[in-house]
Amino acid sequence: MRKKLVAGNWKMHGSLAENAALLAALKPALSGIEAVVCVPFPYLAQAQAELAGSSIAWGAQNVSEQAKGAFTGEVSASMLLDFGCTYVIVGHSERRSLYGESDALVASKYVAAQAAGLTPILCVGESLAERESGVTEAVVARQLDAVINAAGVASLAKAVVAYEPVWAIGTGKTASPEQAQAVHAFIRGKIAALDAGVADQLVIQYGGSVKAANAAELMVQPDIDGGLIGGASLVADEFIAICRAAA
Ligand code: G3P
Repeated sequence: MRKKLVAGNWKMHGSLAENAALLAALKPALSGIEAVVCVPFPYLAQAQAELAGSSIAWGAQNVSEQAKGAFTGEVSASMLLDFGCTYVIVGHSERRSLYGESDALVASKYVAAQAAGLTPILCVGESLAERESGVTEAVVARQLDAVINAAGVASLAKAVVAYEPVWAIGTGKTASPEQAQAVHAFIRGKIAALDAGVADQLVIQYGGSVKAANAAELMVQPDIDGGLIGGASLVADEFIAICRAAA
């Protein structure tokens, strides 16, 4: 039986005071429910201090593909381990589009994360133009192939994939359950053609305007195994409701 996993992507939001209030609300409400919060780098120590011993794991939203060295401003996977991280998002569409992360670079970040023992949350997804052009599956396949070619399909046994249609991120335009399920099934089918066992256990999250109000209809889809939540992860009641809908 595949587990379901909800992760919050705080993006560039938060403060020590806001984070303390949010985490204090999440801990008791999510007791016994596995969840993840991916916080900005400066707040990793706070997340570690607040969440250690809880059912909520924490992680980062990016990681260097380099292990160490003269790479100003970068943060390595081993540094994330120092703060108790177990997950790290790689290849988020905002990093691909705003910061020029190529499929190859994302694959290198994925490899570096796994080499340190972190679980990468690999983001894939198409733009509105790509969907409207009918190339959604080709785009997602290309993004997955870059990782499979770099790390092997077996590596996905220690990863999470997040399908995030770019046109649904932060827009309020959630993909319909049918739209999301179709791409999740494509992803699982693509992996199954290479390794059925890995595909069966692969957690595929949906991300893109998930809210408490629409979470249940998404989470009941056979190939949706949780969510990667942006804006709603910053609101305790919303994130709690989404996590409970997936539990
Ligand atoms: O990584 C999750 C994020 O891209 C989704 O954002 O605000 O649409 O839930 P949001």
